Amino acid sequence: MEKIIFATGNAGKLKEIREILKDLNREIVTMREAGFEGEIEENGTTFRENAEIKAKAVWEKTGGIVLADDSGLVIDYLNGEPGVYSARYAEPGKRKATVLEKLKGVPEEKRGAHFTSAICCVFPNGDVLEAEGYCYGRIAEECRGESGFGYDPIFICTEEGCAGKTFGEATAEEKDAVSHRGKSLRIFAEKLENYLKDKEG
Ligand code: IMP
Repeated sequence: MEKIIFATGNAGKLKEIREILKDLNREIVTMREAGFEGEIEENGTTFRENAEIKAKAVWEKTGGIVLADDSGLVIDYLNGEPGVYSARYAEPGKRKATVLEKLKGVPEEKRGAHFTSAICCVFPNGDVLEAEGYCYGRIAEECRGESGFGYDPIFICTEEGCAGKTFGEATAEEKDAVSHRGKSLRIFAEKLENYLKDKEG
């Protein structure tokens, strides 16, 4: 069965995507493993545009089935920042601290935030499948927990099953059950099943 090439260099995302899509029973390889060497300029203005830019860039070079996730943290009090700039917001290692500093003294009811994940999958013939997922919560006052990656320790999830825990405190299973990426990928998996059924007639 043809493998899926995942257009990312982010180890945290790769781990999650392999776990969430394990029932597809398809090998998921990284774009580097598939021979893609360049960098991708993510110059879209939305998560959806950036997911498509990444998937198409790798598809053009490899011709395989390419899956991309563009995701980030959207903070109400910061008018949606860091948003599509989540991976580039402040220097590496200082991103969580920058957010905490910007929200210093802001009361709990104004600390609302959500994660978004936009998925784009391009097939060898150029067909495209897309899906999005969201997860709601608020920004903590300090880092809590060591699990996950990125902004996980400062995001207090408010969704059932994980409510009150930061994603840094949640287990991988708890996060995947409610997370933006868990949701977007489960929608994608269903679309993929229907797409493949249609193809096979
Ligand atoms: P992208 O590779 O441009 O999609 O960058 C996404 C960035 O958003 C990551 O580098 C993280 O900083 C942040 N991010 C996305 N999803 C998550 C998540 O599930 N937990 C924590 N941070 C995330």
